[in-house]
Amino acid sequence: MKITITGTGYVGIVTGVCLAEIGHTVTCYDIDKTRIKKLQDRIMPIFEPGLEEMVINNSERLSFISDYKEAYRDSEVVFICVGTPEKKDGSANLKYVYDAVQQVVECVKSDCTIVIKSTVPVGTGDNLDRVINQKNDTKRFEIVNNPEFLSQGTAINDTMNASRIVLGVNSAKAERILRNVYDGFRQKYVVTDRRSAEMIKYASNDFLALKISYINEIANLCDFIGANVEDVALGMGYDPRIGNRFLKAGIGYGGSCFPKDTKALHWLANFNDCELKTIKAAIDVNENQKIKLIKKARKYYDSFRGLTVAILGLTFKPGTDDLREAPSLQNIPILLEDGARVKVFDPIGMDNFKKIYPSEIEYCNCIEETLEDADICFILTEWPEIVTMDVSKFPFYMRNPIVLDGRNCFSLEAVEGKNFIYESIGRRV
Ligand code: UGA
Repeated sequence: MKITITGTGYVGIVTGVCLAEIGHTVTCYDIDKTRIKKLQDRIMPIFEPGLEEMVINNSERLSFISDYKEAYRDSEVVFICVGTPEKKDGSANLKYVYDAVQQVVECVKSDCTIVIKSTVPVGTGDNLDRVINQKNDTKRFEIVNNPEFLSQGTAINDTMNASRIVLGVNSAKAERILRNVYDGFRQKYVVTDRRSAEMIKYASNDFLALKISYINEIANLCDFIGANVEDVALGMGYDPRIGNRFLKAGIGYGGSCFPKDTKALHWLANFNDCELKTIKAAIDVNENQKIKLIKKARKYYDSFRGLTVAILGLTFKPGTDDLREAPSLQNIPILLEDGARVKVFDPIGMDNFKKIYPSEIEYCNCIEETLEDADICFILTEWPEIVTMDVSKFPFYMRNPIVLDGRNCFSLEAVEGKNFIYESIGRRV
């Protein structure tokens, strides 16, 4: 089967390489020529553990091209994996999806199955089907919704061993084709109509976001009443109806998915006169949570003017160089506006951060250099380098050892009685 992947972001490259791994011949197309050139030279445009090796190992079956006519000409199945960024009103911008589908329809020689992997509002698949198939009587297009559930940092394993493959189809033929594509994975299928498949994606991501905001609110209350949120989460998580994952309290969720998908579903509900109050609450809690450490810091300093602030971690989570919606992007501007000297360290994310802040902040080579002379330290990402560091470095290097840990990196035993002030989320020393 001749498969083309459109879009070489996280979802596109990982889907492409995993389909090549199970034996398909896959062409990955992107409008961005520089990105394609890099991939042709086996330089990964994103940081994703294991990706480079897998691309190299599957070189024979995997190609990267930036000519869409060539990419689509003989395709039997095209996976659309382009972005659906947030518009100003919170709704999803479908421009890239529609543009890509339009090009497929124009270029493909015969019947083709178009699989929408991008996260799209409910009704998009039906709409595409109507628009495309009404205009074409020579070629027939099957439109499938096949949402993606991979997480950055564990994307390959999440794809090779997915918890489920959701197929939103409106014909037995489309289901048969997709089952043929995915056969090599031997995973559980959920086969439904397109609207339900589109909804499964939003409902899943928004539920996880809700779970995080819920535990963050519980953590904020624990801070006041002296309970320990980690023990609370542990005690809750043993109940299989609750489950122990996504109950890690912190300074909120970031990334390219949860913030965008909660707002998009909320917008869609409002548009249909049906308010999603729980999702609205999750969004509001998260906005506040991202600046929780700034609020905690105000206890020690009225202003950050003239202070040296050490920031450990910039990316929205460990294992990625992605900064989208990361708490660092909320916290650092506040510190700079207030007149602080900001020193940062992140094992992978600094090059991307330099594109946003080329000169206003100091980029350090290691944790020790970042802490040197600092008046306060914010921990924003739980990188292994940070979680495993020797905490006695805080009082040793800092001018004023106040550590605000937004990701609960250290056990309370590890920091208790050490010569520094330590605050975390939902736990008291
Ligand atoms: C998320 C979903 O987990 C994937 O299933 C989904 O496919 C993907 O979005 C998507 O729609 O493409 P991802 O954004 O890569 O994946 O990252 P997660 O690991 O889910 O983390 C998201 C954010 O939640 C991070 O900022 C993380 O720090 C935060 N988080 C996660 C918590 O604060 N607490 C937790 O317990 C778990």
